[in-house]
Amino acid sequence: MKVNHDVVFEQKQKAASEAVKHVKDGFIVGLGSGSTAALAITALGERIKNEGLKIMGVPTSYQAFLLAVECGIPVTTLDEHPVIDVTIDGADQLTPELFLIKGGGAALAREKIVASSSKQNIIIGDEKKKVDFLGLNNQFVPIEVLPFALSPVNHQLFRLGGKTVVREGIRKLGPVITDNGNIVLDVVFGEIKDPVKLQLTIKMIPGVVEVGLFVGLTDIAYVGTSCGLEKIEKSRK
Ligand code: A5P
Repeated sequence: MKVNHDVVFEQKQKAASEAVKHVKDGFIVGLGSGSTAALAITALGERIKNEGLKIMGVPTSYQAFLLAVECGIPVTTLDEHPVIDVTIDGADQLTPELFLIKGGGAALAREKIVASSSKQNIIIGDEKKKVDFLGLNNQFVPIEVLPFALSPVNHQLFRLGGKTVVREGIRKLGPVITDNGNIVLDVVFGEIKDPVKLQLTIKMIPGVVEVGLFVGLTDIAYVGTSCGLEKIEKSRK
């Protein structure tokens, strides 16, 4: 299928613009990673310039940190602010239940820590991110692994039925090294019927730092579509 990049960009932009309306004066904001979250960071920077919005951001990656600084968003840490008011982030796939696959940009561990520390999590994306089941269309699940444990984790994932690939750098030889100094395995499981169970099983493998399955963390998703914007809301209680 041919992807029209202008259309996709427009859908991401609509979702990002809506999400940043949730941010109020005095908020500590989790700043997600990836191309869609970047639009939200830019939009927050614009609100700071145009409205004098007073916020501080907790970046989920070095990418988000650099962009926040460029956009004039004061940055802080989880040590200073362990509770975040709202986090806005992207996703690789999302379902109607608001189960997610994240980590296409290798930021999954920090993204999950920031999401778990947030009172509200808003996910933004374009319509091709929405699926009935996670894992459709051969979507891989990113798994961050301690380098020391790479081979045994790889072996265990294979036994769980996963097809694993070590993520390689672009214009850098060898594996991608995460912001935490670890390696990422991209694992295809096919259709994931029970993401809760799969997440727990993988998390129990020694050496796994984090799994890119996000379940029960998201409150709202804004999905830009060809005719507007879809809002999906779930209660986390
Ligand atoms: C970063 O590790 C990811 O979780 C991203 O949020 C996810 O891959 C979505 O990225 P895009 O917005 O670039 O599609």
